[in-house]
Amino acid sequence: MAVVIACVNHKGGCARTTTVVNLASSLANGNNEYGILPRKVLLVDMDPKGNVATTFGVDKKNIGLTMNELFSKGVDSSNISLDDYMIGPGTLTSSMKSAWRGVNPDRKKGPPKNIFINNLWILPADLDLSGMEIDLATRVGRENRLKLVLNQVKEDFDIIIIDTPASLGLLTINALSAAQFLLIPIQAEFYALEGMRQLIDSINMIQKSVNPELRLLGILLTMVQSRSKLCEKVAEQARKFFGERVFETQIPRSISIAESPLEGAPIVISQNINKSNSAVKSYWDFAKEFDRRLNKR
Ligand SMILES: Nc1ncnc2c1ncn2[C@@H]1O[C@H](COP(=O)(O)OP(=O)(O)OP(=O)(O)O)[C@@H](O)[C@H]1O
Ligand SMILES: [Mg+2]
Repeated sequence: MAVVIACVNHKGGCARTTTVVNLASSLANGNNEYGILPRKVLLVDMDPKGNVATTFGVDKKNIGLTMNELFSKGVDSSNISLDDYMIGPGTLTSSMKSAWRGVNPDRKKGPPKNIFINNLWILPADLDLSGMEIDLATRVGRENRLKLVLNQVKEDFDIIIIDTPASLGLLTINALSAAQFLLIPIQAEFYALEGMRQLIDSINMIQKSVNPELRLLGILLTMVQSRSKLCEKVAEQARKFFGERVFETQIPRSISIAESPLEGAPIVISQNINKSNSAVKSYWDFAKEFDRRLNKR
């Protein structure tokens, strides 16, 4: 049975999507050197911005059926096939390769051999999902609809990771109800911890009302600037507040992470570990730490 992890922080732009696409890719492809065994992973996009698919170079025009259709039609019928909604590793690989060709038109040899993904499926979202927030509000069992969807495929995957929007609305609540574990990325900046109280209150409310199983797996500090006093302070406060739940690995602020969506692939796929900078290594280090924590549960 798959373990389900929701990546949540209602603060916008704190690297939720960057974190889930790199984590899901690392766990799906695996890595001998890091001792990460390949796992079958489903990455679910609950954010109407739909950035998960675009990070893998999937053109929004060719996205096919999305979470919105699944929520509005599929969830009530027992005989839907989630295969119709998922984008699999073959399509993701060819999308990444054509995105690479788009940004490197002069390189005749074609995409390098590291541009591939195995074992990863995504359930994409698009802007229509924003209407679902309102539509769900009037439905019975509105907090549990994603859980019903995922119950149908839990046996087919090892790990299910959910990306969420920058809000604590019903789409995020659906993710929190469906998950066993929470992953919270925090951007290392001045206001980072201010919203934490509100987030913790919401999580407590979800634990009490709909999902008593929900546990905090960990907090990941992102966009950390070296030699920044402010970043050190945020890291120190986060550790004081959350103790060992804060991952040892920190993700540095890096231009290559910011630019990787342009290349049409998450950085752990587009760049080799050995010859690149600390940014790609940091996401592999994080995947290893995450994997260990998950195995210890
Ligand atoms: N470590 C990093 N260094 C530099 N830029 C980063 C880093 N991580 C993410 N970014 C950039 O910061 C922006 C926000 O990241 P991302 O989209 O992953 O965050 P998010 O929390 O999912 O945002 P949103 O609220 O839009 O869903 C993006 O432009 C991304 O490329
Ligand atoms: Mg996002």
